[in-house]
Amino acid sequence: MKLLFNGIPVELGTLKSSAFGGILNQYKGRNIVIMVDENTHNACLEGLFADFPTLKNKAIILLPSGEENKNIEVVFQVWSALLERKIQRKDLIINVGGGMVTDLGGFVAATYKRGIDFIHIPTSLLAMVDAALGGKTGIDLNGVKNAVGTFTSPKAIFIDPVFLETLPAHEIFNGLAEMMKHALILDVGYWNKLKRIRNEEALTTVENILRSIQLKKEVVESDSKESNRRKLLNFGHTFGHGIESYFIAKKPIAHGHAVALGMIAESFVAFKRKVLSQKAYVEIEQVLIDIFPMPPIPENAFQEILSHMKQDKKNTGNHVNFVLLKEPGVAEIDAKLTEREIGEALLHLSLLAQNRN
Ligand SMILES: NC(=O)c1ccc[n+]([C@@H]2O[C@H](COP(=O)([O-])OP(=O)(O)OC[C@H]3O[C@@H](n4cnc5c(N)ncnc54)[C@H](O)[C@@H]3O)[C@@H](O)[C@H]2O)c1
Repeated sequence: MKLLFNGIPVELGTLKSSAFGGILNQYKGRNIVIMVDENTHNACLEGLFADFPTLKNKAIILLPSGEENKNIEVVFQVWSALLERKIQRKDLIINVGGGMVTDLGGFVAATYKRGIDFIHIPTSLLAMVDAALGGKTGIDLNGVKNAVGTFTSPKAIFIDPVFLETLPAHEIFNGLAEMMKHALILDVGYWNKLKRIRNEEALTTVENILRSIQLKKEVVESDSKESNRRKLLNFGHTFGHGIESYFIAKKPIAHGHAVALGMIAESFVAFKRKVLSQKAYVEIEQVLIDIFPMPPIPENAFQEILSHMKQDKKNTGNHVNFVLLKEPGVAEIDAKLTEREIGEALLHLSLLAQNRN
C-alpha cells in the first residue's frame, strides 16, 4: 500500500516487494550506511540482508539502544564514524529501528555535511505509527526531551509489519499508547475499537497501522511546522515528556508508557475542568491503567517534573500549554495549565500508583 505523507512516499507492506530495491539502485556506486541499535541489529538485519543481499557489505553503525542514548555524545560518535568512513553528501543512510534510531539517525543525516539523504525503516510499532512519520528529527539535551532537532524528511519510509514479530510485547503496547492518542484526539470510532484490544495480533493489523498513519497524515498535512493543528499530536506529551524526563536519569520508562501516563493526567485535568465528562474520563483511566504499569511518583518529584514541563517546546511565554480533551475524538490545542492543576494531576497519578501496587 502506497501513500504520500506530506509529499514523502510511505509504503506499508512487504519490504521485498516495495520500491526500496529501486531506491537502492539509485545509489549504486554511492556509500550506503545502515544505522541500527543492538536489538534491531540482532533482530532485523538478517531478514533485510536475505531480501537485499547487496546491503550485506555496507557499513553498519551500531547505536547503543535506549532513550538515555538519544543524546549529543552518541551523535558526536556517529558524525565521527561517518567522517572516518568518508561518507559524502550524495551518500545514503538507512535507519533501521524504533523511534530512538529514526529520531537520532534522522538528526545525524539532517546535520552531517548540511544534510544527506536518508530512508526510515521503522521496526517498532511506535515508530511505524508515529515516530518515523512527519519529518521531526531530534535528540534530548540535559534530560530535556527532543530539545535539539530539525524538521527534515527522509527520502522514503518503508513500513513492514514483519519486523514486529521480534518486538517484545511491552513495546507493542508502547506503540498502542500513540495509537490511542491518535484515536482520542481525532477518531472516536477508532478509540472504541482500540480500547477493547489487549491482544498483540489484533492490534498490529495492517488496518490499525494504516488508520494511525492516516490520522497523523491528516493532521500533519493540514499544518507543518507545529503552528496549529499539528499540536493536537502533543496530547499526553506535556505531562508525558515531564514524567519521561524525570525517570530518564533514574529508571527510564518507555516513551509510549510515559505518553499513556500523560494522557491520564491531561484527561484528569479536562475532567476536573468539567470539559470532559466523568464517564469518558473514567473509561480512559480504566483502559490505560489496565494496560500500563503505574510507576510510583513520589511527591518530592513533582517540582522536578514541573520544571521539565516548563522546558517544553509547546509552551508560550510562561504558560505550560497542553491539549485539552473535550470528548473522545475531539480536542483543543493551546490550553494553559496552572501549577495547581499540574500538582493535582501528578498527585492523582501518584494515588493511582499506590492503589495499584
Ligand atoms: N519524531 C517524532 O515525530 C516522534 C514521535 C513519537 C515518538 N518519537 C520518539 O520515538 C522514541 C520512542 O520510540 P520507540 O518506542 O520505538 O523506542 P526505541 O527506538 O527505543 O525502541 C524500543 C525498544 O524496542 C527495540 N526494538 C525496536 N524494533 C525492534 C524489533 N523489530 N525487534 C526487537 N526489538 C526492537 C529497541 O531496540 C528498543 O529497545 C522516543 O525517543 C520518542 O521521543 C518521535
